Amino acid sequence: APLLPALVIMAGTVLLAYHFEYTDTFPVHIQGFFCYDRAYAKPYPGPEDTSRAPPVLVYSLVTAVPTVLILVGELAAFFCRPWGRQEKTIISGQCCYFIPLLRRIVRFLGVYSFGLFTTTIFANAGQVVTGNQTPHFLSVCRPNYTALGCQLPGPQYITDRGACAGNPALVMAARKAFPSKDAALSAYAVVYTMYVTLVLEVRGSRLAKPSLCLALAAPAVLVGVVRVAEHRNHWADVLAGFLTGTAIAAFLVSPLMASPEMHPKPHSRPPTQGHSLPSSLPAPYSPQHTQAPTQETSQAHAGPTPGTS
Ligand SMILES: *[C@@H]1O[C@H](CO)[C@@H](O)[C@H](O)[C@H]1NC(C)=O
Repeated sequence: APLLPALVIMAGTVLLAYHFEYTDTFPVHIQGFFCYDRAYAKPYPGPEDTSRAPPVLVYSLVTAVPTVLILVGELAAFFCRPWGRQEKTIISGQCCYFIPLLRRIVRFLGVYSFGLFTTTIFANAGQVVTGNQTPHFLSVCRPNYTALGCQLPGPQYITDRGACAGNPALVMAARKAFPSKDAALSAYAVVYTMYVTLVLEVRGSRLAKPSLCLALAAPAVLVGVVRVAEHRNHWADVLAGFLTGTAIAAFLVSPLMASPEMHPKPHSRPPTQGHSLPSSLPAPYSPQHTQAPTQETSQAHAGPTPGTS
């Protein structure tokens, strides 16, 4: 397995995300502003930690909820899959029986965490490159309108780099708004989790799936609403964040779903299996790709099999 390249790419991604998040390696683009611009003159809502959707909460949710849902979904699909209980008995032993499950879980969670860091990088890069200000920018910038000549007739566009008299750290943070990182991470988590858990065929899951969709999407939308309501972002920032996260999730999930391991070919089934699956659906745990020798069928039939009761 190409594990080493994957690890190297992962390490590089984490390093890049770290540099964006915690260092000044990539300086933010300094955008000018119009005197008294109402779109940027909202009151300062306080530090991010005092938000109703603080970063700690958003980051824990986008990390923990998809991990738990993917684990639960894979285990449920593994033990409650609707097709062929007898199919479980044709595999050779317990070790090979669990390997596809483990491989799927590791791959789904690995790609998920890779995508989290990628989303962080994309959002941070967008913020640094555009330098679009938050709605409360002028409140933390506190420009001296007299000194900048705002009393002159006509709209004055201020590009003076030293125009802001406020706290430099707050001003720098108020220059990073487009796209909203919280919105991007939320959308990424929701779309990835939906894709990966909703294709699983679990018995009695037909009603649960729409509910799960709503339960996942509602908090993500709420994060965006809170960002706008607290004057931390414009609507455009949140929408761009949602688009970024959705695009990255879709981009990462499609090759994952298309890989042969996720779609074992139906024609490789042993002839004893009369039924067939719709080929558009992934058949996650059919034992063919465990390379189980079929001549051991009868032997394994007598042995204990997990999940059968
Ligand atoms: C703003 O600039 C004017 C002119 O340079 C100066 O007289 C005034 O004291 C400044 N105000 C503040 C609050 O710094």
